[in-house]
Amino acid sequence: MHVAMIGTGYVGLVSGACFADFGHQVTCVDKDVVKIAALQRGEMPIYEPGLGDLVAANVRAGRLVFATGLVGPVANAEAVFIAVGTPSRRGDGHADLTYVHEAAREIAAALSGFTVVVTKSTVPVGTGDEVERIIRSVRPDADVAVVSNPEFLREGAAIQDFKHPDRIVIGSNDVRASAVMADLYRPLYLNAAPILTTGRRTAELIKYAANAFLATKITFINEIADLCERVGADVQHVARGIGLDNHIGGKFLHAGPGYGGSCFPKDTVALIKTGQDYEAPLRIVETVAAINDIRKRAMARKVAAAVGSNLRGKTVAVLGLTFKPNTDDMREAPAIPLITALHDMGAKVRAYDPVGMDQARKLLPEVTYCEGPYECAEGADALVIVTEWEQFRALDFDRIKQVMTARPVLVDLRNI
Ligand SMILES: NC(=O)c1ccc[n+]([C@@H]2O[C@H](COP(=O)([O-])OP(=O)(O)OC[C@H]3O[C@@H](n4cnc5c(N)ncnc54)[C@H](O)[C@@H]3O)[C@@H](O)[C@H]2O)c1
Repeated sequence: MHVAMIGTGYVGLVSGACFADFGHQVTCVDKDVVKIAALQRGEMPIYEPGLGDLVAANVRAGRLVFATGLVGPVANAEAVFIAVGTPSRRGDGHADLTYVHEAAREIAAALSGFTVVVTKSTVPVGTGDEVERIIRSVRPDADVAVVSNPEFLREGAAIQDFKHPDRIVIGSNDVRASAVMADLYRPLYLNAAPILTTGRRTAELIKYAANAFLATKITFINEIADLCERVGADVQHVARGIGLDNHIGGKFLHAGPGYGGSCFPKDTVALIKTGQDYEAPLRIVETVAAINDIRKRAMARKVAAAVGSNLRGKTVAVLGLTFKPNTDDMREAPAIPLITALHDMGAKVRAYDPVGMDQARKLLPEVTYCEGPYECAEGADALVIVTEWEQFRALDFDRIKQVMTARPVLVDLRNI
C-alpha cells in the first residue's frame, strides 16, 4: 500500500520506517528542509535506538523515501497520516492545532481517488470532525474518510513499541477506511496485537486519558516518595510492593524529579482544558499537573538542602539532561527548571549527557558542558543524577569522590 506520512519527527519518522518495514511503500514528508536533506543523506535528525539501521534498510529496499512537498506523495497514497506536532498553545495550554489544520488543508488540495486521512498526532476530541470539515470545504469532491489512530510509542523504545504495541486504537466508522487500516496493520494483526476499533471521538480521548493516567501514576509515587523520606521508608520497596499487585502494575512507579517530555506535560494540560470547556472538570488531573509543575524546581531546593548551605558560589555537576534515557529530546525535561533554579540560587552548573547536549546547549547556554561524567564531577560540591542513563548505573564513585571538593554530596533523583 502507498502511504504518505506528513511530519517526520519522533512519531512520523518511526511510524513511516516501521510501515515501510511491514512492506508498504512510504513517503515521509516534512516542511523542514534541513531534516529532509539530512535523511536523504542517510543521517538521522533525532536519536532513537535502532532507527538509523531501520531507515537505511528500508531506503535500500526502495520502500522508504523522503520529500519536502506533499502533493505527489498524497496523490499517490491510499493512506495519508498526519503526524505533525501539537504543542501547547501559548497563553492557555490548549493543544495548538495550527499544524494539523494546515496539514489538512494542504492534503485536501492534493487528494486523488479514495484516500484515508489518518490523524496520528495527539489531538483533542473533535479534531477529526474539524479535519474532515476542512478537507470537505477545500475539496467538496474528495472521496475521503478521516480516521483517528493515536500513537502510544515511547521515545527510547519507539520501534519496539510500534512493532509490539499493547494495543492499536482505530477510530473510524467507515467500512472502507477500516479495511485500509486493517491492511496497513496486518503484520501486527498476525502478531495478535489487540485492535480496538471505536468511534473517532472515543479514539481521540483514549490517547489523552492514557497519558493522564500514567502521569497520575508517576505523580502518585512521587508524593509517596516524599512521605517515605519523612518517615524513613524506602520508596523503591513501596513501589515494588504495590506494583506486584496486578491491579496496579509495576510500570510508571519510579519516583523521580517529576514527569517531563514532549507528551505528558502538554497532554495533561490539554485534557484539563477540554474538561473545563465541556463542564466536566478533571480535578485529579488538574492536581497532578499542578503538583508536577512545582516539583521540578523544588528539586533544586533538595540539592541546596543536601549541600547544607546556600549554593552561591558552589558548583553543581548534573548527570543526564534529556527527559528520559535513550533519547535526545529535551522538551520539558526536568533538568531545565532544575538547572535554572540552581543558577537562580547562585550555583555554577556543569553537565554531561550522552546524547542530549546539542539540544541542551540551545536551551541552557550558561551551563559548562563536559565530555564525560568524571570530567563533569571535577571541582563540584554536589553531583546530581537527573536522568537515569544506563552508563550512570556503574560509575566509579571513588574516582568521582577524588575529583570533587572535600565534602562531596551526591543527590540521586532517580534512585539508581
Ligand atoms: N514524541 C512522542 O513520543 C510521541 C508519542 C505519541 C504521540 N505523539 C504525538 O505525535 C505528534 C508528533 O509528535 P513528534 O514528537 O513526532 O513531533 P516533532 O515536533 O518531532 O515532529 C513534527 C514534525 O512535523 C513537521 N511538520 C509540521 N507541519 C507540517 C506540514 N504541514 N507538513 C509537513 N511537515 C510538517 C515539523 O517540521 C516536524 O518535523 C504530536 O501530536 C505528539 O503529541 C508523540
